[in-house]
Amino acid sequence: MIKIDSDKCNLCGLCTKICHESCLHIDNDILTIDYKYCSTCTQCIAICPQLALTWNDFQPEKFDKSLFPDIKHVRELLMERRTIRDYTDKKIEKSILQEITDYAIYAPTHNFNLRAIIIDDEEIIKEVDSLIFKFSVNIYKWLYKPRIILTLIKLFVPKSEFEYLKAKPKLEKVKKRAHGFKTKPAAIILIIGEKRVPLSLESAQYALYNIDLYGQTKGLACRNLVGNQMILNRNKKFKKLIGLNKSEKIFGAITLGYAAIKFKNKVIGKKINIQWNSIKN
Ligand SMILES: Cc1cc2nc3c(=O)[nH]c(=O)nc-3n(C[C@H](O)[C@H](O)[C@H](O)COP(=O)(O)O)c2cc1C
Repeated sequence: MIKIDSDKCNLCGLCTKICHESCLHIDNDILTIDYKYCSTCTQCIAICPQLALTWNDFQPEKFDKSLFPDIKHVRELLMERRTIRDYTDKKIEKSILQEITDYAIYAPTHNFNLRAIIIDDEEIIKEVDSLIFKFSVNIYKWLYKPRIILTLIKLFVPKSEFEYLKAKPKLEKVKKRAHGFKTKPAAIILIIGEKRVPLSLESAQYALYNIDLYGQTKGLACRNLVGNQMILNRNKKFKKLIGLNKSEKIFGAITLGYAAIKFKNKVIGKKINIQWNSIKN
């Protein structure tokens, strides 16, 4: 709950202007908040020069600009981020897992309805591995074995739209190694939300990206299970095992460990086509 310290507030009105829910008002020289409409986006706290607003008694602090990274550092960090699927056997300390998960809260669109499950239990990680393995083998069996299905797909689905056609060698490898994961991760972080809450998937992806990037700065290797999370959501037994309520869904999943490989080179990614709709001059 957002609280106002009226002794500190000098009625400058910056918070009323920034509030996009229009729930902060100054009436008769008093700042008030209409909690009915507040979404706790906390922008009022971030803008207050007097530090007069708090949320859940968290005392805001001013940014220390001397600690901001140089643009060169940010560019290097963004280019260094890669998906890593090869991990060593080294465990990750619980305090590090906790710390990087805590940074999810700073992601945009965070709707405060998400929660995280941190899994470092080897048995549960094995279960995830086995679920991904079984799913991959089934896909292989159904897509590539009955020739009739493959022929139909090739006839009716445009090649550019059917990614699974590219997956044959990848799935053959999974079958051969008898594991879903290339190497076992030390931990998995799941971002959980309510099925019916709008924008949960988008919020979770942002939260996950914060975890990924912050994890990387802490020397961890991460892999976002974008597609594979669907496998976990389909399995009621697994959802029960990790303690999900019926109304909840996994909206994001990331595997973590210490990297057994090291990328050395910066790569320019596939170019995003830009269409300019701008005024000609
Ligand atoms: C829609 C989509 C879903 C993906 N799902 C997975 C996944 O479940 N597991 C995985 O290892 N990689 C998945 N990938 C691939 C990686 O996320 C990543 O894009 C790719 O390996 C490139 O590596 P980078 O992260 O180093 O740029 C997916 C990619 C896309 C675009």
